[in-house]
This record gives sequence, C-alpha cells and structure tokens, in this order.
Amino acid sequence: MLDKLNSHSKEFRERYGPWALVAGASEGLGAAYAEALARRGLDLILVARRGELLQALAARLDAKYAINVRSLPLDLSQSEAAGQITRETQADEVGLLVYNAAFSAVGRFLDHPMEDHLREVDTNVRTPLGLVNTFGQRMLAAGHGGIILMSSLSAFQGSAYISTYSATKAFNIVLAEGLWEEWRRSGVDVLACIAGAIRTPNYLASSPKRSGCIADATLKPESVVAEALAALGHRPTVIPGRLNRLSSFVMRRLLSRQAAIRIMGNVLRGMYIHEGPK
Ligand SMILES: NC(=O)c1ccc[n+]([C@@H]2O[C@H](COP(=O)([O-])OP(=O)(O)OC[C@H]3O[C@@H](n4cnc5c(N)ncnc54)[C@H](OP(=O)(O)O)[C@@H]3O)[C@@H](O)[C@H]2O)c1
Repeated sequence: MLDKLNSHSKEFRERYGPWALVAGASEGLGAAYAEALARRGLDLILVARRGELLQALAARLDAKYAINVRSLPLDLSQSEAAGQITRETQADEVGLLVYNAAFSAVGRFLDHPMEDHLREVDTNVRTPLGLVNTFGQRMLAAGHGGIILMSSLSAFQGSAYISTYSATKAFNIVLAEGLWEEWRRSGVDVLACIAGAIRTPNYLASSPKRSGCIADATLKPESVVAEALAALGHRPTVIPGRLNRLSSFVMRRLLSRQAAIRIMGNVLRGMYIHEGPK
C-alpha cells in the first residue's frame, strides 16, 4: 500500500514537478493545495500578500514533508505581479501552476467604485493570464506540466450581485478549456476547477445567509483539492461535490438560461442583499 502511494507520488512529481507555484496560498483553499502537493513530494513556491502566513505555512510543510518551500509575498492585483513572478522563478523548473487567488466585490454593481471592478479583472484575469503565458511556455518547452485555474459555479451564467466576479470566472473556464485542447498532446494538462461554496476563511468572512438553494452544501477545502488533483490530466473541467454537479446539471441542462440567471440572482440576493431587492 505504501509502495503504491510512493509510486503514485513519484509519477505525480515527474509529471508536475519538481516545483509547483500556488498563487493565493496563505490560507484556506490555497493552503490546502500547498499541503496536498507537499504530500506528493513537490517543492513549493507560495504566493500571497501576507508574508507572515506564508512563512508559517512554509515552515510547517518543510518540517512535515521535507520539501523545499519558498515564499513570495506580493499583491497579485498589481499589473507587475506576473512579470515579477516570471523573473523570480527564472531558475526554477515549475511543473504545476495553481491559480487560486481571487477578488470578489459582492453587492450591487453600482455600489462599488470602478476600481473594485478593475481589481477583479486584474486579480482574476490579467495576472493568471500572464502566469499561464509564462509557465505555459516553459512547460511546453519541458514537455510536461499542469495548470489549475480556480473558477466558480457562478460563472456558468450571469450572476447578479457578483456580476464582474462571475464574468472573470467565466473567462477562466473558457481559457482552461481552450488550452486543454491546444496543449494536451504536448504533455501539458490544463484544468478549470469550478467550485461551489467552500468553507474558506474568505467565504465565512463574507457572512452569507443560508441560501436554501440545492447547491448550498459547503465543501471542505481538502475535498475540493482532492477532486481537482484527481481530475487533472483527465478532463478540462471539474465540479467538486455531488450536490454541486447535480445543481449545475439542473441549472445548465434542464432550465432555460434565463431561468438559471433568475434563480442564481434570487439565491445571491438572499445571501448578500440584506435589505431586499431594489
Ligand atoms: N470560497 C468559496 O466559496 C468559493 C466558491 C467558488 C469558487 N471559489 C474560488 O476558489 C478560490 C479560493 O477562494 P477563497 O478566496 O474563498 O479562498 P482562499 O484560498 O481561502 O483565499 C484566497 C487566497 O488568495 C490570496 N489572495 C487573495 N487576493 C490576493 C492578492 N491580491 N494577491 C495575492 N494573494 C491574494 C489570499 O492571501 P492573502 O490575503 O494573504 O493575500 C489567500 O491566500 C478563488 O479563486 C475563488 O474564486 C471559492
């Protein structure tokens, strides 16, 4: 059993190692990705804004799994972020990119200044696109690698009260699908992980009220990571969680698009717009 696990980790490291870069790694889902990859023997470059959290995670994973871990504290919403990461990783053979960081301006569209919408575009579209470009080139040259882009069920249709966020997450799904087809014969696997609610500090801090919706089944970060890593190399998208797959089937295949948009809007209004519809 141990031998089987070891040989699986060895195969994983050969295909997606030796280094993995996790963008948005300081807590929650990003930290769970880091731990799962450390368990498979990959060395890690951890990126997020809070350097002290990255240092603590790096020390813990290094002690537990005897891997190399480097922290790269920076703000992924900045236009130079992808360029800085490109330069700082010039000498590292990064075989796996996980883009997990995101910014979401929750609430009525016009209640947010334009800077918030642009920050969503920068964090969720511009920087991951730059990193996909950098690491895609390097992985294709090496003949192996993998890229995981985090997306959301809210991206399957327009989602009121998170309209810009859901549009940026739709970009990630479509980008991953296109590159999956374009690169899969070159040994580079691309995956969009399309998540429903996950019990991360970020999600819990947004204090959503219970939605009463069929998809209201929050998952643990570890379960999402396990399903994403299992899907990598097998298909272009994964929806973690059976209830989420079921609700997505109903929303996308059984209902009209307009009905899906209205249902999603009602759910999000119930979760985030406390004084009722305007
Ligand atoms: N949670 C959910 O219910 C849910 C549902 C659907 C999809 N998703 C997707 O899953 C991913 C993770 O979700 P989450 O936010 O709940 O969880 P998370 O993984 O717990 O936290 C986000 C991570 O990204 C980092 N980050 C955020 N903005 C950053 C920035 N500008 N620069 C550098 N690092 C940044 C944060 O660290 P610092 O604060 O230290 O920078 C943190 O480590 C996102 O892509 C999200 O769209 C989540």
